Amino acid sequence: MPARHSNDSEFGIPFPGREVSRERWTTTGMRDPGGAFDWAATFGRESTRVVDLGCGNGRYLIGSALARPDRDHVGMDVVQVAIDYAAQRANRRGVANVRFVVGDAVKWMEERFATNSLDEVHIYHPQPYYEADAPNRRLLTPAFLERTWTVMRPGGLLVLQTDNKAYWTYLVGAVQKHFETERLPATWPDATRGRTRREIQAREKGLQVWRMEARRREVPLAIAVPAPDFDANRPKFRKRRGK
Ligand SMILES: C[S@@+](CC[C@H](N)C(=O)[O-])C[C@H]1O[C@@H](n2cnc3c(N)ncnc32)[C@H](O)[C@@H]1O
Repeated sequence: MPARHSNDSEFGIPFPGREVSRERWTTTGMRDPGGAFDWAATFGRESTRVVDLGCGNGRYLIGSALARPDRDHVGMDVVQVAIDYAAQRANRRGVANVRFVVGDAVKWMEERFATNSLDEVHIYHPQPYYEADAPNRRLLTPAFLERTWTVMRPGGLLVLQTDNKAYWTYLVGAVQKHFETERLPATWPDATRGRTRREIQAREKGLQVWRMEARRREVPLAIAVPAPDFDANRPKFRKRRGK
């Protein structure tokens, strides 16, 4: 009998995959290695490498790991409870090709992932931040994009998604130095109601979602990338709820 998980859908949308019997559970939570991350030792093979930065509860990454067993996946988030949920769900689905870790994406990109080592980098709904110090807190900066280019292999894919129009406008300009961008249709074919918790939530609130796939350029363009010092315009629904 498959084990049952009491918290297995969000907003009425089932979490990808199915729980398996207990003897097939895996261990997908891991500790920060404290140095370079060893993909081959962790997964016991050389494979295509997929990361999700700020993965939240892991909805996208678990679905991807299940749909693409030939690829290895690492998800990270600074919030312990989000990683705990992600790992628990992946464990109970018996997923072997994913690991979740509490960690800072900037640090991992700079210190844990080697140059020329990643095939896909996914970032869904990076926090826009609204306060005066927002430009210093935002994940996607000129330095971060340059480092992303450096750690990706030739032909690597960067996937970006946001429901914040100002962040989107910034990204469209900022990403093109290192990546050739392609804007995608309104819904994902593999997850028409949303790939991630935040996407589902945003759509429930009636917010528009923008997304792009961006291919790593062999040689970056000789253009300057501005700092992310845009006004993110706090969404109205948050004001209405008095938060
Ligand atoms: C708006 S949520 C989106 C979560 C998930 N990607 C989704 O779409 O449902 C942004 C996430 O990024 C995480 N985060 C913010 N800064 C981070 C950083 N520097 N490194 C890793 N995670 C970060 C937050 O903890 C949060 O879970």
